[in-house]
Amino acid sequence: MSGHSTYEPSTGFEKWLDVRLPIVRLVYDSFVVFPTPANLNYWWTFGGILTMCLAIQIVTGIVLAMHYVASADQAFQSVEHIMRNVNYGWLLRYVHANGASMFFLAVYIHMFRGLYYGSYKEPREVLWILGVLIFLLMIATAFLGYVLPWGQMSFWAATVITNLFGAIPLIGDPVREWLWGGFSVDNPTLNRFFSLHYLLPFVIAGVVVLHIWALHVPGNNNPKGIDVKGPQDTVPFHPYYTMKDAFAATLFLILFSYFVFFNPTILGHTDNYIEANPLVTPDHIVPEWYFLPFYAILRAIPDKLMGVVAMFASIAILFLVPWLDTSKVRSTTFRPLYKIFFWILVADCLLLGYLGAMPAEGAYVIWARIATAYYFLHFLVIMPVLGLIETPRKLPESISKPVLPDKGAAPAPAE
Ligand code: HEM
Repeated sequence: MSGHSTYEPSTGFEKWLDVRLPIVRLVYDSFVVFPTPANLNYWWTFGGILTMCLAIQIVTGIVLAMHYVASADQAFQSVEHIMRNVNYGWLLRYVHANGASMFFLAVYIHMFRGLYYGSYKEPREVLWILGVLIFLLMIATAFLGYVLPWGQMSFWAATVITNLFGAIPLIGDPVREWLWGGFSVDNPTLNRFFSLHYLLPFVIAGVVVLHIWALHVPGNNNPKGIDVKGPQDTVPFHPYYTMKDAFAATLFLILFSYFVFFNPTILGHTDNYIEANPLVTPDHIVPEWYFLPFYAILRAIPDKLMGVVAMFASIAILFLVPWLDTSKVRSTTFRPLYKIFFWILVADCLLLGYLGAMPAEGAYVIWARIATAYYFLHFLVIMPVLGLIETPRKLPESISKPVLPDKGAAPAPAE
């Protein structure tokens, strides 16, 4: 994609195709000889794992859709039919449902990896922005999909979230009715949610292509966060990273299989095995685990509109991260102070997740407010200020020349 192509078509057919549609050249340059930093660690395998997750969701989803009925009086039964009567329907459904959780687990690791190693910094801002866009699309897709089985939690999650739009001044009510296709969550809502849930993964796939394109122009960042200085710093993508990615994906699939085969309902909610009933509200309406931190932020703010604004702002702020971080040094490895705050942010997000699962009352609300305030403080104050005042550690000269004494030279004196 970038740089000079070294592809040489070997067969007559490849030569013929190459002057008409150089797709083999594109794949060869991007995924075979692509010069990749030699020092990537296992946190760099999650991009590949995410691509695999997307493929699994699309394939299982397409087959599920062959048996699912998107109508308010048949959706719940059709899911039971898939579970009991369709050949391997239980497997398709459990892979798809747990697959969503695995997808979010991988994406959170991928995002925090990016934050830790400063992969969003110049020249990778567009790559990062496309990532945040993918994340938003993933949130929308997962939410829409959760409504489809038309269980109690499906119905009430749809009700709670669509009602948030009602908080928008002036246009709130018409927007909400427009989303519903009526005057409450009902059959038309389910139909449009199904249509969009089927569409969005393909939009995500399109943005992933742009994401990888935007990755291949500047090339990968790496754990040291320093630029590649020459061929001595890189190895070809294949076989080094194809094999490493395949190994990591296999380990990831073992974890995935544990949930699918040994604990397939642990990540779900029992109320979703009760058919949707608009007249009975569940005791606690809780989203899936991967939405809990955002749910905590939503409920932390006493005012409904401001809660909605804070929740969306907590994601939107990620778009600005490349400009909020003022440090010239990419990798947190060389930023002793920022490293502490990075891990506090991780703990803060986990705390928000826990609080999102708790009832919105008493001390839980107080803690949710503190954790929400800290989340924004991290991005709006700590990130910009620390970049200006922190003294980073000395950066290595290059990836291939580590900051170690030369072989054979006397050990460096202790400082
Ligand atoms: C469907 C979801 C996604 C897929 C399939 C995907 C795919 C990939 C792949 C294949 C890579 C290269 C390998 C790697 O560095 O792990 C990559 C890199 C990257 N991704 Fe994603 N990604 C997704 C979501 C995201 C999100 C949500 C963000 C951030 C908000 C993001 C930010 C980045 C960054 C900054 C890099 C460059 C890493 C580096 O070279 O240091 N990605 N992505």
